Formats: sequence, C-alpha cells, structure tokens
Amino acid sequence: MKTSADLDGDTGEESETGNQARLVVAVDGPSGAGKSSASRGAAIALGMRYLDTGSMYRALTWWLLERGVEVSDAGLVGELAAEPVIEVGTDPRAPWTRVNGTDVSAAIRTREVTSTVSAVAAVPRVRAHLIAQQRDIIARTDGIVAEGRDIGTVVAPDAPVKVFLTADSAARADRRAGETTWSAASTQVEQDRRDRLDAAQSGKADDAVEIDSTQLDLDQVIDIIVRLAREHAGVPHPRQQIR
Ligand code: DC
Repeated sequence: MKTSADLDGDTGEESETGNQARLVVAVDGPSGAGKSSASRGAAIALGMRYLDTGSMYRALTWWLLERGVEVSDAGLVGELAAEPVIEVGTDPRAPWTRVNGTDVSAAIRTREVTSTVSAVAAVPRVRAHLIAQQRDIIARTDGIVAEGRDIGTVVAPDAPVKVFLTADSAARADRRAGETTWSAASTQVEQDRRDRLDAAQSGKADDAVEIDSTQLDLDQVIDIIVRLAREHAGVPHPRQQIR
C-alpha cells in the first residue's frame, strides 16, 4: 500500500511558529475527547498541516469490509494491509481520505467502520505499515499537528510538543452522540468497548501535557495547544505581548 499526503495546494501561510524545522505537535487521547476539532483548529491557527492518523486505520477497514474480508482474521488482515493505496489530505481546513482514488471521507465514519476499526488497528502488520507511512507524511512537512493514539509514544516520539487530550467518559459519549444518531447511552457502551480494544496503543507519553477537556470548550483547548506550540518555538502568545 502506498500512503501519501496531499502537500500540493499549500495554503501558502507562513508558519507562525517561527523557523523551527519540522515542528511536530502530537495530539493523542481517547475517542470523543475532541482531538480532531482541537488539532485542526490549532493547525489552522499556527499555519501548520494536519494529519488524522485514525482516518488511515478507518480507510483500511473500509476497504477490507468492501472486499468482504473477515476482519477478525488477523493473519489475512495483516497480509492485505499493504494492498490499497490510501491517501490523506493534510490541509486542516479541508482534510480528506481516499482509497484507490475514491474519496471515502464520509464512508469511513459509518457505524460499521467505527465498530470494526479497533480490530484492524490491533494487527501488528497493519500498525507497522501505517506508522511508516505516517512518519513519511510528517517528514515531508515543515510543521504538522498529528493526532491519534500513539503519536507521542511511537509515531513521533521526538515531537517537541505533545498533548494528551482526555475528557471523562460521559462527556465524551455526549459529544459523540451529538455528532451521530446514536443515543448517549449506546454511544458510551460502544465507546467503552473501543477504549478497551484501543488501550494497548493508547498510552500517554511521559513528556505529554495532559489536558482534561471535560470542562473546557473547543476554543479553550485550541488556545492551550497553540500556546504550547508558540512557547516551544519562542513566539510569545499574543496575550503575553499585551502590557
Ligand atoms: O480516532 P479514530 O476514532 O478515528 O480512530 C480510529 C481507530 O484507529 C481507533 O480504533 C483507534 C485507532 N487508532 C490507532 O490505533 N492509532 C492511531 N494513531 C490512530 C487511531
């Protein structure tokens, strides 16, 4: 499988984080903590690219389901992991995901994919393959906010800015239910199941800053991530410039 990022059509914005070569901001945490919205918002504010690594696991899962592959067959899933061409767009204003040239940005968010993806993401050959592609995408950018479960621990352990975004289980389920037609109760049951399955690859890096978003709104979370990135790059936060 080839995985590539759309680096064309660069926004042309100069990174606000200074001349730091390849600043990587790693955002990890459980599902429903608000990683995607916060990471996209921070990337836009900082003039950086954005990588949603979960979309790559979802894309592979979508393709396996389309082919009628029994995803509990880890050996077969591992063998097939490199077959589809998975591409992701890294513009934080309009991220997209393609499989063999087909836009699957919406198709990878269905309940079927969501309830199946943990099993696919647990297969070691799948992880090795996608992690290599993710590192390649990150290496080709000047600055990127990458979100997932293992960015700060495995994909980019040298990232100078690491965030571990959490929220309590009920708050996460409420947010997810608001985005779907599922009830909050069934969302939480499904979320707890996925949390357990994803736990092996969802550790917090020792040097990550933990943000509990239970009581925070999206702008507050974005603000914290932007401040951490600017502090690292030596660019004062606008508020700090006010006398
Ligand atoms: O964040 P998400 O719900 O789109 O992630 C989809 C699945 O992929 C989820 O089961 C966790 C898994 N995942 C992973 O194992 N490693 C990552 N870096 C990102 C996602």
